[in-house]
Amino acid sequence: MTDQNQRKILVTMALPYANGPLHLGHLVEAIQTDIWVRFQQSRGHDCIYVCADDTHGTPIMLKAEELGITPEELIAASKEEHEADYADFLINFDQFHSTHSDENREMTELIYNRLNEAGHINRRTISQLFDPEKEMFLPDRFVKGICPRCNAADQYGDNCDNCGATYNPTDLIDPKSVVSGATPILKDSEHFFFKLQDFEEMLQKWTRAGHVQEQIANKLDEWFTDGLREWDISRDAPYFGFEIPGQPGKYLYVWLDAPIGYMGSFKALCNKRDDLDFDEYWNADSTTELYHFIGKDIVYFHSLFWPATLQGSKFRTPTAVWAHGFLTVNGTKMSKSKGTFIMARTYLDHLSPEYLRYYFAAKLNSRVEDFDLSMDDFQQRVNSDLVGKYINIASRTAGFIFKKFDATLTAECSEPELIKEFQDEAINIADYYETREYGRAIKAIMLLADKANQYIAEKDPWKLIKQDGGEAETHAICSNALNMFRLLSIYLRPVLPNLVENVESFLNVEPLNWDTHQSLLLNHTINKFKPLMQRIEQDNVDAIIADSKQATGSLTEAN
Ligand code: MSP
Ligand code: ZN
Repeated sequence: MTDQNQRKILVTMALPYANGPLHLGHLVEAIQTDIWVRFQQSRGHDCIYVCADDTHGTPIMLKAEELGITPEELIAASKEEHEADYADFLINFDQFHSTHSDENREMTELIYNRLNEAGHINRRTISQLFDPEKEMFLPDRFVKGICPRCNAADQYGDNCDNCGATYNPTDLIDPKSVVSGATPILKDSEHFFFKLQDFEEMLQKWTRAGHVQEQIANKLDEWFTDGLREWDISRDAPYFGFEIPGQPGKYLYVWLDAPIGYMGSFKALCNKRDDLDFDEYWNADSTTELYHFIGKDIVYFHSLFWPATLQGSKFRTPTAVWAHGFLTVNGTKMSKSKGTFIMARTYLDHLSPEYLRYYFAAKLNSRVEDFDLSMDDFQQRVNSDLVGKYINIASRTAGFIFKKFDATLTAECSEPELIKEFQDEAINIADYYETREYGRAIKAIMLLADKANQYIAEKDPWKLIKQDGGEAETHAICSNALNMFRLLSIYLRPVLPNLVENVESFLNVEPLNWDTHQSLLLNHTINKFKPLMQRIEQDNVDAIIADSKQATGSLTEAN
């Protein structure tokens, strides 16, 4: 690839909160993003993937207190767990950082100061529920009481689980602080607001210029119709976060510094790598590409607040924000009692990460759609596609080459047209990966796998080898089959990086980057075939569900 064609791309995924372990929902996003990044890298692009833990806010502060440790200790423990989980799912970050870092503080203060100087920050006094015992203001989720509409008891301060009503925490009947049980009082305090409405015109244009998915643009239209309002970006002490410059006792709301964490993480990477220039990626006139992978629940933050924050502080805005839907397990919301609230670690205790990477890839598309992990379908699909179809091509033919033909493939390809069909699909499959239509990519790859298996079955090398003069043809058939297998491996590599690394050693080849599909293995000596993947057994799946019904005892175990 010439330098001219090489794209410079920075990719992020949403920063997981540092107060709980990762579950399979988090992994949807990590796997979706990782596949895209690996695909770009395989194409020879300069694609960088950063993330971080999202460490600030009231829930983290209170969780640490409950555990009798400092917030710093809690987020350090979380980070270690998260990094290990991601690494074991083969998520290949260039940098996994923390929002509680010098780099993020520096960027957050810079951005706040620029917004303030440009007149985008307002101040006014508001009245909020305050816990007189704990001496702190209470976020909506930390007040519970009786629903003012249906009278259901024990409802949160923002909405009712029973009747779905949304309201202010001050509307609750008989409100109580979740932290101390005390009856909250109303108390005044000066708050700082980001004037989102200053960016109304810019955002209307931005969201209609291809930077977000169609479904999201439509959703945003509703929000524009409602009108953009000031965003409360301050919180009073006690709060775990960054103090507002020059305002002792006032802190920046976690959702301001969290997306800036993308920059902070990239900055930390730049500090380690001489070849990277922070400004080249973030200045207003940057020509690099910037993509944020996120879940559908945090669209408002990423497609309104975030581009406005960047624009208002004279940085570039994202090339695109891509939202995915939510994962359900066995048809419903993940549930602890059903054993379907599956932690990343619980899964890893019983199964290899690549099964899940494959299954998610097979199910993912570019739209904002929820999708289901049905444990039966998962087991069946992985066994039949990967073990039964893909690996099968090699396991049926490698032995002949190894034993009968000196481990060496034929010098010429006897089926150039058939093999060319496999090579020509590279264009479509690349397009599917590029546009995040992974399900279609997998479908196209599996159609090729079917074709390869059909070819082997029709030619029947087991019968041929026993016939007089059948040797040469057997050699040709098995060489063709292994070439088909190699091409499929190139296409599957973004999804199955470890497996394909083992394929590379078996085939005795250099890394199977995308462009290698243009060549074939001829007169090439391979290594002995070793089983590349085991079937998923029912026991493994049952064990995951059984373990998920029990608490894992991890320090940062979710509530
Ligand atoms: N900390 C914020 C994000 C800040 S980004 C500047 C946050 N954290 S989270 O841990 O709650 O979620 C992290 C990501 O995981 C989000 O994009 C969220 O949508 C995604 N998911 C959480 N549960 C999920 C599913 N069940 N399914 C798919 N994605 C899910 O939000
Ligand atoms: Zn109600």
